[in-house]
Amino acid sequence: MITKFTSGKPFDTGAVTAAFPSKAIADFPFEHALADGKFRLSFPLEQSDILYGLGEAPRGINKRGWVYESWCSDDPFHTETKQSLYAAHNFILLSGSQTFGLFIDFPARIRWDLGYTVQSLAEITVDGADFDIYLIKAETPREIARAFREIIGKSYIPPLWAFGYQQSRWSYHNAEAVDNVVKSYDEAQIPLDCVYLDIDYMERYKDFTVNEEAFPDFQNYVQKKREQGIHLIPIIDAGVKKEDGYRVYEEGRAKGYFCKTADGSQFEAGVWPGVCAFPDFLNPEVRQWFGRQYKFLTDMGIDGFWNDMNEPALFYSVEGLNKALDKAADLRGENLDLSGFFGLKDAFMGLSNAHEDYARIYHTVDGKQMNHLRVHNLYGASMTKAAGEYFESEFGREKILMFSRASYIGAHRSSGIWFGDNHSWWSHILLDLKMLPAANMCGFLYCGADLGGFNENATRDLVLRFLALGVFTPLMRNHAALGTRDQEAYRFENPQDFRDVIQVRYRLIPYLYQTFRKASDENDLMFRPLSFDYPGDNIARECETQLMLGEECMIAPVYEQNAAGRTVYLPEDMTFVKLSGDRVETQPLAKGLHYVGVALNEVPLFIKKGKKIPLCRPAMRTRDLDLEQLEYIG
Ligand code: GLC
Repeated sequence: MITKFTSGKPFDTGAVTAAFPSKAIADFPFEHALADGKFRLSFPLEQSDILYGLGEAPRGINKRGWVYESWCSDDPFHTETKQSLYAAHNFILLSGSQTFGLFIDFPARIRWDLGYTVQSLAEITVDGADFDIYLIKAETPREIARAFREIIGKSYIPPLWAFGYQQSRWSYHNAEAVDNVVKSYDEAQIPLDCVYLDIDYMERYKDFTVNEEAFPDFQNYVQKKREQGIHLIPIIDAGVKKEDGYRVYEEGRAKGYFCKTADGSQFEAGVWPGVCAFPDFLNPEVRQWFGRQYKFLTDMGIDGFWNDMNEPALFYSVEGLNKALDKAADLRGENLDLSGFFGLKDAFMGLSNAHEDYARIYHTVDGKQMNHLRVHNLYGASMTKAAGEYFESEFGREKILMFSRASYIGAHRSSGIWFGDNHSWWSHILLDLKMLPAANMCGFLYCGADLGGFNENATRDLVLRFLALGVFTPLMRNHAALGTRDQEAYRFENPQDFRDVIQVRYRLIPYLYQTFRKASDENDLMFRPLSFDYPGDNIARECETQLMLGEECMIAPVYEQNAAGRTVYLPEDMTFVKLSGDRVETQPLAKGLHYVGVALNEVPLFIKKGKKIPLCRPAMRTRDLDLEQLEYIG
């Protein structure tokens, strides 16, 4: 049962597709108060209660004991002390003394104090008085998640080839670099379906341009790669470079399509290309215009994109930068003491994504100015909507691969997400795992983290263990930052170990694709916390390192360095399967705790007793997979 409560005049975020009658917020059945333009609601937390949800967010599967914020943030340090990542997924689910779900449909800041200030109390603060809250009741957490998914509409499904292995790196500067990647994968006999084009493919980081010198005759190049079975996936950034003579900028400016400041002038801030203007994606006419820009690339045969920097990320505003530079100029020659030095440092450190800059942005909504702070969390989702609307009208569904960095619930209908700039840290293998069920609850099924880690240097064993989890994530992409150690699968000694792991992905594609589609069609979770399936089992309820996959499987990756295996908890009898290249080893194990050995070239999987899953033969590309010739294991 779902009840909708409305306060004031909510902004139409488009998150919920089903129509509902509304009750007054005064009838909301939990403790609540509306004061000083903020709404606070609270409920007690019993010892055994678990709180799930919040989609892409830091920390555990169980969100208790921390304070989170819904505020799409460009922050590349995903440590456990953070409160937000790139998304705002305002859905939580309580399981224990009570069972209910809450979705707060509100596009600005929400603070989720989930037992942080007072361990036994959840206190949620909505930073405004205009919002809808949906209270969802059902018998089980899974039913609640499904009921929620039903009202937000079906999840995006990418083309089948998007389930192939994908290689990315910020620094494939030209066609030769990309060719080398493909050649090296082919020579090492490691399967591959996509190579990503990061900002380097553009002409000085301008959206919808291609650097002709680096990629001569791009259309022909795209075609040639396609003949080799490789999809090239270019990045698109939210900011449009301010430059006279640059078509996209000139068109946008002439039509008044960029965000404004209070006095009606264009809002500008620095990102990769220098000073940029920001399309007002909240305006449907601007969305149509921006969506049509992708045609420049789809006309050349491109059929996949990643949308980035769309929180939006602002490196600096011209005003902010000038202030900091003035301060530095004033202090030249001074003897800087503690406050002098740190004041100067902070003036520069605080330039990026500054609250005061967001506060200066205005959108035009239904002909009226609206301050960005009121709708911040919709910006990236609206960029993705712009592209999604165009792709669907032009190509139909399931034809174009797309995923975004920033998102709000609703964007799951047109796109996937990736979890942004993680690190080559062992703890980030688990962070990837923990976000999967939470993202699924919020509708995002096509998702995954940068495998091997984006920031900092990776090690061979880390990349292998990360990939062994990535074998199961719908988006299986190895991506790394400029200047970090090369981490393509062929870069390390014994590349056959990498082949063994990545081939397992190709063998599993029939199963993973079918499981994914089913989850989308039935508004279900592809990945679930163990506690969803074994609610009476205390060990399962606390498990933060394993997940249920589909109806058949459990996954339990190795996530520690120098470990030759791991301890795994089986909530029922299962078959332990070790997959490696062509090899399948099975071993029945009884319910309980086990230590299982897993070599670096092996992928561990657990199949429930009485269940079987299909495997196909590996291939170098998804297009070469024989999806009819299946072997069943279990
Ligand atoms: C952002 C993205 C990252 C990309 C980089 C350069 O940091 O999150 O994936 O490589 O920008 O475009």
